[in-house]
Amino acid sequence: MAKIYAIANQKGGVGKTTTAASLAAAFAELGQHVLLLDLDPQAGLTGALGLEPERFDVTIYHVLLDKLALERAVVPSGVEGVDLVPANLDLAAAEPELLGEIGWDRTLKDVLSPVARGYDRVLLDCPPALGLLTTNALVAAQVVIVPLQCEYLAMRGLKHLQQLFDKVKRKANPGLELRILRTMFDPRTTHSREVSEEIARIFADRVLAPIIRRTVKFADSTVAGKSIVSYARNSEAAQAYREVARAI
Ligand SMILES: Nc1ncnc2c1ncn2[C@@H]1O[C@H](COP(=O)(O)OP(=O)(O)OP(=O)(O)O)[C@@H](O)[C@H]1O
Ligand SMILES: [Mg+2]
Repeated sequence: MAKIYAIANQKGGVGKTTTAASLAAAFAELGQHVLLLDLDPQAGLTGALGLEPERFDVTIYHVLLDKLALERAVVPSGVEGVDLVPANLDLAAAEPELLGEIGWDRTLKDVLSPVARGYDRVLLDCPPALGLLTTNALVAAQVVIVPLQCEYLAMRGLKHLQQLFDKVKRKANPGLELRILRTMFDPRTTHSREVSEEIARIFADRVLAPIIRRTVKFADSTVAGKSIVSYARNSEAAQAYREVARAI
């Protein structure tokens, strides 16, 4: 049975999608079979892999709402050893529709369970919101990884994410673990160092190492439609994500 990770933070642009794509490539390098799920209607992950979201007729939306078998939506990601369930804007309609269903919060867990057996790792890329999709991801996962920028206000709103984590853990998923990944760290600035130390102090052994530094290579790799691990193989950033993959 695969280990399932939700990559979540309701703050936008903190590195969720980058982390999902980079860890997937790093796991694949270790010889593991990986499934990526794009749970964001903006389809950042599908796009970051160089795929055109609107090209797909069958997406995660049809799995969650039309009860289509999840394997019907699986496509090759372009990275060897990594499969993808894509998303597109259709998914924007999913939340109000899901809410009408009994047990809506277990929908993803139920459709994922039979498929997860065929993989070593499953990574769920959440949208920047704490709605039904992120809740479904937290119910389905064993670990939630929260990317936090090493910048002022990084922890603003984190209280709400923690409340959702606590609620899911209490009511639906008692084994759920929380891990913090510090991203966009700039060692030259005092405030980046201060924020990173503050995060380490608050979350202690729940903080993942190493810290992911800020570098333009990530933007370059997105333009190239690749993860940093494949795009800049020997960069410090690629190496950092490989170490995080080994650590988890
Ligand atoms: N460590 C980093 N250093 C510099 N740029 C980064 C880093 N990590 C990610 N980025 C860039 O920051 C932008 C936002 O990253 P990403 O899309 O991964 O965030 P996200 O949390 O998924 O955003 P959203 O909430 O909108 O889905 C992207 O352009 C990405 O290339
Ligand atoms: Mg994203």
